[in-house]
This record gives sequence, C-alpha cells and structure tokens, in this order.
Amino acid sequence: MRYLAGTLTAVGVLAIAGTAYAEDVEVLHWWTSGGEAAALNVLKEDLGAGGIGWEDMPVAGGGGTQAMTVLRARVTSGNAPTAVQMLGFDITDWAKEGALANLNSLAEDEGWNEVVPAAIQDFSVYDGEWVAVPVNVHSTNWLWGDKSILDELGIERPTNWDEFVAALQAAKDAGYVALAHGGQPWQDATIFDSVVMATGGIDFYRSAFIDLDEEALGSDTMKEAFDRMAVLRGFVDDNFSGRDWNLASAMVINDEAAFQVMGDWAKGEFLNAGETPNEDFVCFRFPGTEDQVIYNTDQFAMFRQGDAVSSEQAALATAILSPSFQIAFNKVKGSVPARTDLDASELDACGQQAYADFIEAAGSGNLIGSFAHGHANPASVKNAMYDVVTAHFNGEYDSETAVQELVTAVQINK
Ligand code: GAL
Repeated sequence: MRYLAGTLTAVGVLAIAGTAYAEDVEVLHWWTSGGEAAALNVLKEDLGAGGIGWEDMPVAGGGGTQAMTVLRARVTSGNAPTAVQMLGFDITDWAKEGALANLNSLAEDEGWNEVVPAAIQDFSVYDGEWVAVPVNVHSTNWLWGDKSILDELGIERPTNWDEFVAALQAAKDAGYVALAHGGQPWQDATIFDSVVMATGGIDFYRSAFIDLDEEALGSDTMKEAFDRMAVLRGFVDDNFSGRDWNLASAMVINDEAAFQVMGDWAKGEFLNAGETPNEDFVCFRFPGTEDQVIYNTDQFAMFRQGDAVSSEQAALATAILSPSFQIAFNKVKGSVPARTDLDASELDACGQQAYADFIEAAGSGNLIGSFAHGHANPASVKNAMYDVVTAHFNGEYDSETAVQELVTAVQINK
C-alpha cells in the first residue's frame, strides 16, 4: 500500500473496494489473435475486479517487432504507456536507458525472489532492480501435430530429424500441407531456434546465439542447420509468404496441415478453437530437443511516470504475479506460470508437461533463451540475424553464403 500514499493526496481518486486508483493503466501489447485476446481478457477482468480500469494499446504483429517500434516513438515523444509487454533483451535495453520503474519494494513484500527462477529474473531484474514482472513462460521448441491427419496416415511421434522429414513427406504425399507456416522473419527465426538446437545441441546453441561466438556461427554445424531449413522450406505451401502465425495454426485446426513448428502460444489458438490436446492436436518437443526448453517470457515493464511506482502499476504487478492469476492466465495463453511453486493440475496435458519441463530445465541448466524471441541477444543483433535466416529461407542464397552472412551480421551489430 505504500505506493498509494503520494497519489491519494495529490489527485482526486476513485475509491473501489477499499483501494483507490487515480487512473487507468494503459497497456501496450501485441496480443491480438483469438487465443492471445482471450488470455488478455483474463488479465483485464482480474484488474477490473480490483477496480483498475484498462486502456488498451494493441499493436498487431507476432513476436512484437511492430510493438517495439511504436513504443520507441511513444517514449521519444514523451508519452510512455504505463505498462508494456516486453521480451528479454528489450527489457534490459530500456532499463539501461533508465526508463523503467524500480519495483524492488513490492518484490520484497511479496517474495518474488523466492518464486521466480534465476533464468527469468535475468530479464526482470536489471542492476539489482526489479523492472518487469513475468506473466508467463513460453517455449519455442514445440511441434504441433494434427491428430486426425497423423492417425489417418499412421504417423508416429518423430524423435529425430530423419523421422520428422519422413513424417512431413508422408503428409505431403497424401495431399496435405505438411508444414503450416507463415513467412515472416520472426516465424522463420522461431523454426531456426529448434533446428539449431536439434542440429548442434545446447552447447552449440549457447555459443552461437548467446555468446555470439564467430567460430560457432560460421561452422559446418550452422551450415547443416541452414541445409535443414531449406529442407523444411520444401514442405510449406505456396501461399506461406507473409501469413500470420495464427492463420498457420488455423490450418492445423482445420485439418488442412499436418504440423506447425511454433511456440506454445499456438496452443492458445487450438484451445480457443475448442480443441483438446491428444484428441484434436498433439504437442511434441521439436525432434531432437526433448531435453531442452528454449524459453521466452512475456513480462510487463513499468515505465517511470514520476519518482515512485504509481498505485496502478503496483496493483498491476501484484495481480500479475499472484498464484491464482498465473494459473488462470496461463491456462488460456498456452504458456506456463513464471513462478515455480504452483500446483499445475489445472493445466491441460501439454501444459502439465511444459510446466514440468520448465521446472526441470531451470534446475539442470537446460533452460535457454530463445534467439527468435529476444532472449539470446539484443534486438540489433537479433534483427540482423532475422534478415539472414529469412533471406536464406526464401532462397536468396545458399547455406554456405548464409553462414558467412550470419557471421558478418553479428560482427557489424554486436
Ligand atoms: C511471442 C510472445 C507470445 C506471443 C507470440 C506471438 O513473442 O512471447 O506471447 O504473443 O509472440 O504473438
């Protein structure tokens, strides 16, 4: 409650349920698909029940690239939103600029340090200050399968690259779209997360994407990963270019496509369409990445509005990390809670597996940040790497050239 003091005396306030809030929260986010909007509603309703109004600032565009451009323009014009959905290194970059409010006092009162694992705190905390609140943990190394197509064709769970390619071929031969995909840089990069992990393993992934080691980036292993991307390119349909990710998910929902490689926000779409895991769709870790969790966590960063955190920002942060909200939200979003102390029995079968994977990986060091979703390197490097992955996926150059371009992109931008 200490955050309320200044505001209460300074402004005329609205008092609801014993707590007073001067303003709505304005939240900038990119959750505009059906599943994402349903999850966002859980948050809006939770806040509404506590008397906090919601001013919506959606910026469509999966992965948040466009949202980050709009945010930059807003902050530059001196009009930062109250709270912003943000990923990984974007949080760190804004914190470095001194733009984010310090939430330490709230974190201490509510014991956040004890329940949020270190890999997530790496992005919530900057220079000893809590500057963002994690609403979830997603992972990108998932393979979603259409149950009816897989059953019809007798396709079993693929556990390595060759089996995966054979399964894709069987679906293609039967006249289905083998791989539902949207040709947008962040989606190409999302597949690349899994392909690089499956091809080189976790140490290679870390060297290349997190340490930005030139030897790893320029290696034969990286060339093989690009070769595999070219193989996958042969399994997407002719209209893939520019398609939004949720429309690719819809191809699986409508039994037009056998597989989609996508983070578990895709599950939010399946659930929103009334589908059930293991009845209508299946969730497999991308073949060859069964022991790893390539994660990204959506966090809400609070932009400094004055010296102290505002009462609305504090209330939003408290709501987001509350145990009941973490379960209610993540059930709908497709992700898992960012706190490791919860009972996951209310999550669906895929969610229970994901939560167990997350907790185990957090303990064993196999929880590793997603390049595609801003948890491996800063936006400048990430965007330059996106360009290379996408140009190669679209056949602009071969794998040998892609590897060289990747090294150059990193050299110039890191
Ligand atoms: C991710 C984000 C998810 C989902 C996805 C597609 O970056 O973490 O919550 O929104 O983009 O929009």
